[in-house]
Amino acid sequence: MYTMRAVCCIVVALVMSCYGHKADSGSCTPKLENALFEDLLSMMLKIKGIQKGTHQRDDTFSAFAASLTASKTLGTGEIVKFDKVWTNVNNDYNPSTGVYTAPKPGVYQFICTVMTSYNKTLRLLLWKNNMKTVAVYPGAANFGYNTGTINMILELKKGDKVYTKQANTEKYIYSESVYNYSMFSGYLIR
Ligand SMILES: *[C@@H]1O[C@H](CO)[C@@H](O)[C@H](O)[C@H]1NC(C)=O
Ligand SMILES: *[C@@H]1O[C@H](CO)[C@@H](O)[C@H](O)[C@H]1NC(C)=O
Repeated sequence: MYTMRAVCCIVVALVMSCYGHKADSGSCTPKLENALFEDLLSMMLKIKGIQKGTHQRDDTFSAFAASLTASKTLGTGEIVKFDKVWTNVNNDYNPSTGVYTAPKPGVYQFICTVMTSYNKTLRLLLWKNNMKTVAVYPGAANFGYNTGTINMILELKKGDKVYTKQANTEKYIYSESVYNYSMFSGYLIR
């Protein structure tokens, strides 16, 4: 509230000084005024946490959701890079590494639903830093395509990293760019 008031005062002061200039020297053109006004407006919006685009900056919150665009035979211990980003508040999830980094201490929920390739198995673990947490093992005794879901709530510190990683010999993950069968998401509960 204080900052908003301060910024408003600056705006008023600048506009006034601009008019003052114009009166005696004519140096403050309307073009400059507009540019100045736009800068100040975007500054105010930034302070309020409102920005253009889908990746809105909000330091009080974090959420992401991403899916896999294609099937893959994972390497041993490979981190799954869910590459199609649906939601990524503050870009806390990195689609090129598959790693989510907690922006602040709190309680977070993570959900990961994955499908196996036809007649194949997959074993995935949810990791927190260098610690294994829970696993999913779809396809072990069933033919065809199978799905499994990890659903976990973790207490994290700022900078903790959460990701999904292949385990053992089960490595076949299925997805299609038109159906997005395999996905990973998470968010800060509070
Ligand atoms: C899938 O597994 C079942 C059971 O073993 C088998 O009958 C079927 O032929 C397999 N399909 C393929 C495409 O491998
Ligand atoms: C999957 O994602 C793509 C965009 O990557 C979208 O065009 C398609 O409609 C999605 N499919 C479903 C079933 O939601």
